[in-house]
Amino acid sequence: MSTIATGGSDFGRKHVARGIGRLTDHVIQSGKGSYITLNDGRGEYLDFTSGIGVTGLGHCHPKVSQAAADQCFTLVHGQVSIAFHKPYLNLIERLLPVMPHPSLDSFFFWNSGSEAIEAAIKLVRTKTGRPNIITMQGGYHGRTFGAMALTRSKTVYSQGVAPLMPGVFTTPFPYWHQMGVSPTTSEEEISRQALYQLELVLLQQSAPADTAAILIEPVLGEGGYVPAPPAFLRGLREIADKNKLLLIFDEVQCGFGRTGKYFASEYSGVVPDVLVIAKGLANGFPLSGIVSRKEITDSQSSGSMGGTYAGNAVACAAATASAEVMQEEKVLHNVSVRSAELFAALDELRKEPEVSPHILDVRGVGLMVGVEFSSPSQSTNDPFAAPNGLPNLAARISKRCQEKGLFILTTSLYQVIRFVPPLNITQADMAKGLSIFREAVREVVRES
Ligand SMILES: Cc1ncc(COP(=O)(O)O)c(C=O)c1O
Repeated sequence: MSTIATGGSDFGRKHVARGIGRLTDHVIQSGKGSYITLNDGRGEYLDFTSGIGVTGLGHCHPKVSQAAADQCFTLVHGQVSIAFHKPYLNLIERLLPVMPHPSLDSFFFWNSGSEAIEAAIKLVRTKTGRPNIITMQGGYHGRTFGAMALTRSKTVYSQGVAPLMPGVFTTPFPYWHQMGVSPTTSEEEISRQALYQLELVLLQQSAPADTAAILIEPVLGEGGYVPAPPAFLRGLREIADKNKLLLIFDEVQCGFGRTGKYFASEYSGVVPDVLVIAKGLANGFPLSGIVSRKEITDSQSSGSMGGTYAGNAVACAAATASAEVMQEEKVLHNVSVRSAELFAALDELRKEPEVSPHILDVRGVGLMVGVEFSSPSQSTNDPFAAPNGLPNLAARISKRCQEKGLFILTTSLYQVIRFVPPLNITQADMAKGLSIFREAVREVVRES
C-alpha cells in the first residue's frame, strides 16, 4: 500500500506546475476567520490577503460553510442546461436588491472571474454585432485567452503565448503612472487627460461603429489599487452613450463590500451595462457571474451560454449565505470603521521622518487600500522612473511582514503593498496587522 503524503511532505509540491507563483512554499493547513495556519512550525498568521480578495467574511465562516455542507447533502451538481436549480434561483433573489441599479436584472453565473470576463466579451459582441473592446492600460482581467488579451497590467500573463484575441484597443486608466504625469497632478486633470485619450482611441484606432464596449475596473486592482475618479467614470458613461457603446465594469476584486459599498461603482452613481462579479461573491467557493439588462442578455440565443459547472449548486448556496451574513453582521459598517482606522494609521506612518521620503502615495477606498513606495533611486516626481530593476521595497516589506506573522500582498509593476483584509476583521486584528506592517516598513527603509 502506498503512503499518502500529507502536511509537510515535499512529495506533491515537486509535481505542482511551475507556472504558479506564491508568497511562501509552506502548506496552508487551515483557515479560520482572519487567520491561516501553515505547517512551518510557526503556525498562525494574520491574513491580510483574504486569498486575494476572496474570503471577505474570513476563512470558513460558520454560516457559509454550514450552508455549503447542507447543500452537499441535497444537490451538489444541478446542471444548468438540464434544469433550473433552487440555489441558483435563491441567489438571484438575494442579489437583486443589492444590485447597483434595478436595470441590472439578468444573471449568468460561471466559476472564475476570467470566465465571467469571457462571458461579458461574448455578450457585448452579440448584442452590438461589433468586434472591438477598449480596455484600460494597467487593467487586469484574468488568464484565459479573452481575459488575457484584455489584461494590461503586466506582460508576464501573456508573454510567449500569442496570438491573443484580436480586437482589443487600449486607453490609459486615470492613474498618474499610466498617464506619465506627476503624482501630485489633480484628479480632475488626470480624468480630463484620460478621457481625451479615450476620445482619440475612438477617432484614431477603433471607430465607434467597430467598437462593442469599454471595459474598466472601477478600482484598479492588480494594476495598483487605484480608484477611478467618479468624474472619470461619469465621463466614460457619457462617451459610451454618445457613441452607442456598452460599458462593462469589472468588479471582480472591488465588488461585494470590499470598498464599503456593495459595488464600487455606487460611489460614482454610474451604472454599467454589464457588471462582472466573482471573488467575494461566495467567500471562497468558485463562483462568478455577469449581470446585465434583460434587453441585452435576450440578444443571445438559447444554448449559446452554459458550462458544465456554471452556477454550481454548492457555490450558489454559499453565496446566498454570504449575502445573508453581509446583512446580518453589518459588514459594510465594519468596512467603513476599519477603513478609517487603516487610513489614520497609514497617514501617521507616512509622517514619520524616516519613512516619509519612501512613501509616494496612500490611496484606496474601504478595505481596498494601496501604499505606494518609491525606490531610493526613484525621484518622487518622475513618473517615467523605471518600474523594474530597482530595489523592490514593497516585496521586501511583504516578506518582512510574513516573517513577523502577517501575510500581505504587493501589486502592480510599481512598488505597491495592497491591504485587502477580511471585511469583518476586528479592531484588535486590524491594529495587530498595522503594528506588524509599521515595524516592517521602519526596518526595511532603515536598511535601504
Ligand atoms: C479585476 C479582476 N478581474 C478578473 C480577475 C480574474 O479572476 P479569476 O482569477 O477568478 O479568473 C481578477 C483576479 O484577480 C481580477 O482581480
